Amino acid sequence: MWMKGPQVKEIPGPKGREIIEKHHKYMATTTNDPNEYFLVIERAEGNYWIDVDGNRVLDFSSGIGVLNAGLRNPRVIEAVKRQLDLVIHAAGTDYYNPYQVQLAERLAGIAPGDFEKKVFLSNSGTEANEAALKIAKWSTNRKLFIAFIGAFHGRTHGTMSLTASKPVHRSRMFPTMPGVEHIPYPNPYRNPWHIDGYENPDELINRVLEYLEDYLFHHYVPPEEVAGIIFEPIQGEGGYVVPPKNFFKELKKVADKYGILLIDDEVQMGMGRTGKMWAIENFGIAPDIITVAKALGGGVPIGATIFRADLDFGKEGVHGNTFGGNALACAAALAVIDELQNGLMENARKLEPLFRERLEEIKEKYELVGDVRGIGLAWGLEFVKDRKTKEYAAKERNEIVVEALKMGLATLGCGRSSLRLIPPLTIDEEEAKIGLDIVEKAIHRVSERHGYRVH
Ligand SMILES: Cc1ncc(COP(=O)(O)O)c(C=O)c1O
Repeated sequence: MWMKGPQVKEIPGPKGREIIEKHHKYMATTTNDPNEYFLVIERAEGNYWIDVDGNRVLDFSSGIGVLNAGLRNPRVIEAVKRQLDLVIHAAGTDYYNPYQVQLAERLAGIAPGDFEKKVFLSNSGTEANEAALKIAKWSTNRKLFIAFIGAFHGRTHGTMSLTASKPVHRSRMFPTMPGVEHIPYPNPYRNPWHIDGYENPDELINRVLEYLEDYLFHHYVPPEEVAGIIFEPIQGEGGYVVPPKNFFKELKKVADKYGILLIDDEVQMGMGRTGKMWAIENFGIAPDIITVAKALGGGVPIGATIFRADLDFGKEGVHGNTFGGNALACAAALAVIDELQNGLMENARKLEPLFRERLEEIKEKYELVGDVRGIGLAWGLEFVKDRKTKEYAAKERNEIVVEALKMGLATLGCGRSSLRLIPPLTIDEEEAKIGLDIVEKAIHRVSERHGYRVH
């Protein structure tokens, strides 16, 4: 085994540049930005990407929240290989197979809530959320939904109407699904009432719920027609925002009052990311519906909607798909759950204090850092031009991502000026320190370049 840490000659090198150019010639424009994310991945070794030019880059992105169990987890690979020798696809919505049943039983067993659960299997987070919408509509015979500003729930016409993190997601796409209203997320750092939610969490919670009841329910949204409230337990794409500890308990009281279902989107924060299997376990409630995807399959596409058994369609043909419950994906997911339970979640909990302390130190030192927040191995830093006005430092954030990558660390932006640090849960203390050193160096360089104070 080579020495730990990145090894970079030039990113992108000549081969990388050629592929980036061809990519933009032949591939539809999605989110790739060659000026910011110029890593051209050939393979993975340990917690590192090896790019097409042989550069070795430490990963603090987990393939956008997918590779919690490691970039190439040997047990996941073994499980997929075993499954390849049995059957790849077993048409699980018409015929039957043991693999999807095993996974459904396992997911129902590990999801929070002391009640019977059932599972719908799909291929992505978006589809898991689409299924959640349909289960909520069908079971309640209600049509309306409440979501949060800053949320990301997907990009189909149904889920896009829930998503509210960037205008570009909806631009030229209207009409979206009608009947969705958004309310402010209880963001302790930045909220419409300028409340310091770290100092006064209860005040922030009260304002959000007051807004829901007094403004929406008492003016124009009949609560008895609301099927569900969908939320991320920690907002991901919206900026890695951790709400106050008691928020969801209080939200549940309001939801219960009106018979509204709580839909917990764990697509980015679930599967051990916070050191617990489900991020909502940090907040002490059991949602009626949970959606999960990304890290569930360890890199093999799969989504799951886990719900109270009594909400089931109970009638053939209301919902279904072709690939959901694919045998390879189920085998991978079962291995991922084993791996998370056999030490990886524990590792996330073990490394949490290291991240917290080091990032708090960085915040003390660099004026550019306005806020640091996170649980387990889900960390966000928000950059601001001025700590008083909290003006977004988006350009500076983008430059930090670039500087880090040039030094051999893959990170990702989120929100308007935040950086997310989400390493695979397989990293060790040494790699955590190497990565955090690079984060600090990148912030240092950008601070000096733009004249921000460094203490
Ligand atoms: C919280 C959340 N929900 C849903 C989605 C959509 O998942 P997918 O891209 O697999 O469709 C994402 C993707 O980033 C997400 O972060």
